[in-house]
Amino acid sequence: MHITMVKKQLLSGDPCRKCIEAEALLRSRGAWDRIDQVIWAVEGQPESEGMRLAEQHGMEAAPFFVVDAEGGPAVAYSSVLRLMRERLRPAVAEAKGDGGRPQVPSRAQSAPEDVQAAARALDGAEPQDVLRWVLARHGRDCALAFSGAEDVALIDMAHKSGLPFSVFCLDTGRLHPETYRFIEKVRQHYDLPIELVSPEAEPLRVFVQKKGLFSFYDDGHQECCGVRKVAPLRRTLARFKSWVTGQRRDQSPTRTDVPTLQLDPAFEGREGELWKLNPLAGWSSEQTWSYIRANGVPYNELHERGFASIGCEPCTRPTLPNQHEREGRWWWEEATRKECGLHTVHPAAS
Ligand code: ADX
Ligand code: SF4
Repeated sequence: MHITMVKKQLLSGDPCRKCIEAEALLRSRGAWDRIDQVIWAVEGQPESEGMRLAEQHGMEAAPFFVVDAEGGPAVAYSSVLRLMRERLRPAVAEAKGDGGRPQVPSRAQSAPEDVQAAARALDGAEPQDVLRWVLARHGRDCALAFSGAEDVALIDMAHKSGLPFSVFCLDTGRLHPETYRFIEKVRQHYDLPIELVSPEAEPLRVFVQKKGLFSFYDDGHQECCGVRKVAPLRRTLARFKSWVTGQRRDQSPTRTDVPTLQLDPAFEGREGELWKLNPLAGWSSEQTWSYIRANGVPYNELHERGFASIGCEPCTRPTLPNQHEREGRWWWEEATRKECGLHTVHPAAS
């Protein structure tokens, strides 16, 4: 049996909310492994593979599933529940039973006041203590989002805590060669499996075919960041209970209120709450770099060439003396728009 899931890609580049929910449901029931292939029905692109499949099977909207069983005609399912009931029952039963473990563990919701109390207690705490606090609770279900810049300090701290943790890096395909070399250096230095997360092939193909490789200089970075960063982040975070970023309040006018701990409101449509921690929120650039130097932490060689902040190669340039740290990012755009969408609220797609 071969099962294809057809997802809908919105004009923003994101998958539709129902697709996210259907995937989360399959994952939570331990049945995601049974999906052999995902293809995309791209909004406004009747020639995309998913749209053609929809027409062929008379499906009005994605998500839907096409099941090819040997010796029979392909059958399309518009309901993920029916698919699970009729085709995936053994996997679902196993995942629910004593031995089966759902891929996304079900999570108890925290009372908002508990999270607020924890946030108050952690605010002002040393980054190492914040990390220990979350890693003691979530271990490998907590992921450090590593951009290949000075947020390496967090990897050093987590490593020194002796507690388990995960690390991922959104590989946009447009990072500097120096950053790729640095990621590899960090992997070897800490003997750490760093997960490199790529954009989904089909939305990326469609975007690049339509807009080329440098559309952000003409109509802003949001669309490209949507495909190359935000959608992959959303996909990745579905597997974790918490994530840790290197955001600091002193980094830019858009970050002056960054909390140490919050319930992340950004990624709706997931199962269970998501904690977002910014242990460096209260540290200055100077404190971060003092830590890096004092502890002999490896750093990206671009920092030696005037790059205060490091993102994708076409969208980052060195800063001049007295320029703000993030002025070298998307320098052709206004300061208030210099967020790529990783740290802004995303209303649920539909
Ligand atoms: S951003 O606008 O690109 O998000 P910045 O480069 O200042 O801003 O990064 C802030 C934090 O976002 C980083 O410390 C890291 O936690 C996360 N982040 C940014 N880019 C990436 C990336 N490519 N992969 C993983 N995490 C990232
Ligand atoms: Fe695309 Fe630039 Fe955003 Fe990287 S930073 S994803 S190249 S727009």
